[in-house]
Amino acid sequence: MLRNVPFQILAGVLIPLCALYISGLYKGVTPGFSHSALLGQLNIFFAQSLSPESGMAVPTPEELKTARESFQGKNATCFILGASGETGKELLAEILRQKLFSRVTLIGRRALDLKEPLYANVSQEIVDFEKLDESAAAFQGHDVGFCCLGTTRAKAGADGFVRVDRDYVEHSAKLAKAGGCRHFVLQSTKGADSSSSFLYLRVKGEAEARVQAVGFDRCSIFRPAVLLCDRREFRPAEWISRKILGVVALVSPTAMSVPTVTVARAMVNNVVMPAKDGQKVEVLENAAIHALGGIK
Ligand SMILES: NC(=O)c1ccc[n+]([C@@H]2O[C@H](COP(=O)([O-])OP(=O)(O)OC[C@H]3O[C@@H](n4cnc5c(N)ncnc54)[C@H](OP(=O)(O)O)[C@@H]3O)[C@@H](O)[C@H]2O)c1
Repeated sequence: MLRNVPFQILAGVLIPLCALYISGLYKGVTPGFSHSALLGQLNIFFAQSLSPESGMAVPTPEELKTARESFQGKNATCFILGASGETGKELLAEILRQKLFSRVTLIGRRALDLKEPLYANVSQEIVDFEKLDESAAAFQGHDVGFCCLGTTRAKAGADGFVRVDRDYVEHSAKLAKAGGCRHFVLQSTKGADSSSSFLYLRVKGEAEARVQAVGFDRCSIFRPAVLLCDRREFRPAEWISRKILGVVALVSPTAMSVPTVTVARAMVNNVVMPAKDGQKVEVLENAAIHALGGIK
């Protein structure tokens, strides 16, 4: 960790400056581009780059293979919240590729087009997250729950962001627990901190705390840095960050970003491995996600 501090401080200062410079050029060709959105992104960036990271024990490929085979024999079931999103879609693909669950339920606000035979054991539950109690049955009978839900302040406003990223997440976790879920996997973010002055990091920290309070047998919290993917939705501030971080990743791959496919694989690998020392709550920071998600 110490080795990374000078780099992170440097990155926290230099990358925002570069981004502001590029955005100045960018604004000229993109009407409607908002500097405040970019500044918000950069503030988070800075806070994230200074947040500490803890290490974690990583299984060998052989240990993982054995654990995976044992898990496949359990006939376990899972649900995914946010399977239409960038991480969620990679997660669904990885789960199906590894044939880990006998049944997979996608819980979301809209139906996905899943016609291929590959999706034979996948069912969909379309719910109204504002009336989630009416859909309690959708959460019944799953061993594992994955949550990749999330929106942005730019898209949903501050209140809408809190509603989705904290309240929907907490409500879903409670219904999952009541429905028998034993292991809840939450995608949070690097730097999540319930005492942060940044809305994004604070709300993510609050969501983490509320999910932990639900009391699952096991709860895995993932804190990825900036997600690298070909995002379908165009988010200008994030686009600029991703371009810069794509270059930073060539020098220091685990420092400030992570591909969504790596996050998805890390989640799946975490689920098949037993919790270390029977820990009820595990927090996986960005470097740990890279390490665990790097094993195929
Ligand atoms: N972007 C980053 O660089 C970054 C970095 C670290 C952590 N994270 C966090 O990682 C998580 C996943 O990020 P992502 O980029 O993979 O997600 P994403 O592509 O933005 O997808 C978000 C998912 O949440 C659903 N959702 C959004 N608003 C909703 C609403 N009002 N009601 C119901 N469902 C709603 C979306 O459903 P629809 O398809 O129906 O909209 C989608 O399935 C988020 O919590 C995010 O904050 C992101």
